[in-house]
Amino acid sequence: MPTSPKIIVVDFGSQFAQLIVRRLREEGFLSELINHKRAAGFSSDDLKGTRAIILSGGPASVLDADAPKIPPAILQSHIPILGICYGMQALVRAEGGEVSGSQHREFGRAPAEVDADSVLLPNGAQELVLWMSHGDHIGTLPPGYVARAQTAQSPYALIENIEKQRFGMLFHPEVAHSARGEEFLRNFVLRCGCVPDWDVIEYRQSVIESIRRQVGEDDRVICALSGGVDSAVTARLVFEAIGARLTCVLVDGGILRHEEAEQVAEQFRDVFHIPLIVDQAQAHFMGVLTGVTDPEAKRKAIGKAFIDRFRHIVTELRAEHPAHNYRFLAQGTLYPDVIESASGATTIKSHHNVGGLPKDLGFELIEPLRMLYKDEVRALGRELGLTDAILMRHPFPGPGLAIRIPGEVTADKCTLLRAVDELYLRMLREFDLYHEIWQAFAVLLPVYSTGVMGDARSYESVIALRAVTASDGMTAKAYPFEPAILEQMATRIVNEIPGVNRVVYDITNKPPATIEWE
Ligand code: XMP
Repeated sequence: MPTSPKIIVVDFGSQFAQLIVRRLREEGFLSELINHKRAAGFSSDDLKGTRAIILSGGPASVLDADAPKIPPAILQSHIPILGICYGMQALVRAEGGEVSGSQHREFGRAPAEVDADSVLLPNGAQELVLWMSHGDHIGTLPPGYVARAQTAQSPYALIENIEKQRFGMLFHPEVAHSARGEEFLRNFVLRCGCVPDWDVIEYRQSVIESIRRQVGEDDRVICALSGGVDSAVTARLVFEAIGARLTCVLVDGGILRHEEAEQVAEQFRDVFHIPLIVDQAQAHFMGVLTGVTDPEAKRKAIGKAFIDRFRHIVTELRAEHPAHNYRFLAQGTLYPDVIESASGATTIKSHHNVGGLPKDLGFELIEPLRMLYKDEVRALGRELGLTDAILMRHPFPGPGLAIRIPGEVTADKCTLLRAVDELYLRMLREFDLYHEIWQAFAVLLPVYSTGVMGDARSYESVIALRAVTASDGMTAKAYPFEPAILEQMATRIVNEIPGVNRVVYDITNKPPATIEWE
């Protein structure tokens, strides 16, 4: 990867550890999040080129016997260190200060005063609101450290040791509730000689060069497109690097959104002239879904159908072009996935791995987005000429419409749901709500309801509408539509989509519900 990180963030398990990396990146500094267990094995060689080290917060108490320690290579180095919350307490202890248990947890906003001679907030500040979340108490500072900020509960909210270039913050500068938090972080890394040179647009050129190096002069790359942002940007980048030695594959199993396959085909094949195979696999998918009603069995059947079709296409390609070495598979893995798998966190749901490809296909992986966050991927995609129709689309699950049709999935049900979904999303755009909502979709319920249309009785399908706001999909809130808008949407769906005579709105948050119905 292009820039060797000069800032290491050691992850002691804080829920905010990723935020430190994010905040730094927003300030133009690239950093790498490293689990404390991995960092424990570091030698001084592993720290070569590192300019600054940040120790994150964490759920443990430094007083616990098995509390994670600051890695020895870090403590012995002369690289500047900033400890945050747990990281600060661990630093205080390691340097000979005293930490004790406390009856008083300090949690939430705390007004603080920062001394004028603080180097991390030059000129200091009166009544600065900082965000605290700690239980233990610092009794005495280690030699060489001075306190530079105080709250009512904590005389040592910010400590500095200028000679050793070691700093501690009991508060969390990375959370938005800490006033001027990004300034503290920026000043620390600037002091360490780091320069704010991270820019996703400039990253484009270096990643293209690294793809060229990896693939070499002759070999070929395959990229499976899903219709989503990540695979689209991946493919576009790889194409920029190696041109028509990239072949894209889009498996259309009949469970995509309205005209999704067509839009991708148009952009990739007609506009960008990227070789693309669209596999019309509707019959295959509907065949394997026949009689399947259990949601997990559905996911498995779809995952397997996808792999079977992909394997078939790759085998045909290799047979047709024996001289081509289809050696690489390009995947749109993002930074949060890389971090989560590296730290062994258990938060990734297994269902997000639908579409993962088996090793026996013999590919080496190319993952050009593995340093990036979603918004950076979008910015890069825009720079690469992808349309907003692809870049700004609401998230869509791998198993597609199938998990929005509780019960057995059939081609007819998919056609009906696709039409309702298209109308619903079109109306959200008309109301100018599409981008205010994180994800919206329709669900085709496995019940019929009685209605009266004209003078006749009807007995037709029921649609549930879902719309949520969220930042990452881990939690979500049902979107509070105005009643008049809901009413208009329900009326138009029933009037314009034959086969539907009732619309309900799902007002459940996540948790307790999930975003999808299955
Ligand atoms: P849930 O339903 O778990 O969804 O609250 C959270 C986010 O993940 C998407 N999702 C999936 N994505 N394969 C995927 O690639 C899946 O099986 C899957 N299930 C849910 C969902 O659309 C939402 O954005």
